Amino acid sequence: MSSGQETISIETREVTKTYGERAAVDQVTLQVKKGEFVSLLGPSGCGKTTLLRMLGGLEQPDQGTIMLGGRDVTGIPAYGRNSNMIFQQLALFPHMDVFNNIAYGLKVRKLPKADIQRQVGEMLDLVQLGDYGRRAVSELSGAGPTRRHCSRTD
Ligand SMILES: Nc1ncnc2c1ncn2[C@@H]1O[C@H](COP(=O)(O)OP(=O)(O)OP(=O)(O)O)[C@@H](O)[C@H]1O
Ligand SMILES: [Mg+2]
Repeated sequence: MSSGQETISIETREVTKTYGERAAVDQVTLQVKKGEFVSLLGPSGCGKTTLLRMLGGLEQPDQGTIMLGGRDVTGIPAYGRNSNMIFQQLALFPHMDVFNNIAYGLKVRKLPKADIQRQVGEMLDLVQLGDYGRRAVSELSGAGPTRRHCSRTD
């Protein structure tokens, strides 16, 4: 996996994260090229979520380096990175409708209103939910009876 540096989108170099005595992620070195689709497979507890949380800036490694788009982001928190994470459990703002849940990150980035409108519309159309923008998230299928919005972060 040693091709042109400019095509590497995500890179970890000997990244380690320890909780107490136990290494959840132990010297992981990984390169993902731009456009590549990568799945992390492994038994429960092997460190998949911990690695992803470090890529997203939700956890910081004890050792090692994380590069995103050629930039060293080690130590930079989630809000300082141009990355996104879709959580293992549903994590939606229950007080916002579908449109505003999708628009949230774009609003934080202070994109012009028309751009937000267009991009959110494109995303809704992509997943064939074009007519659901004004629905409350509790009115969608798949939310489950307990409505565990924002309850877990992995
Ligand atoms: N905040 C934490 N505090 C202490 N230990 C943790 C913490 N988060 C994860 N761990 C431990 O780190 C190890 C890796 O956990 P992680 O959640 O990354 O596994 P996973 O591969 O995502 O598992 P699953 O397939 O069940 O989602 C486990 O032993 C877990 O108990
Ligand atoms: Mg996990």
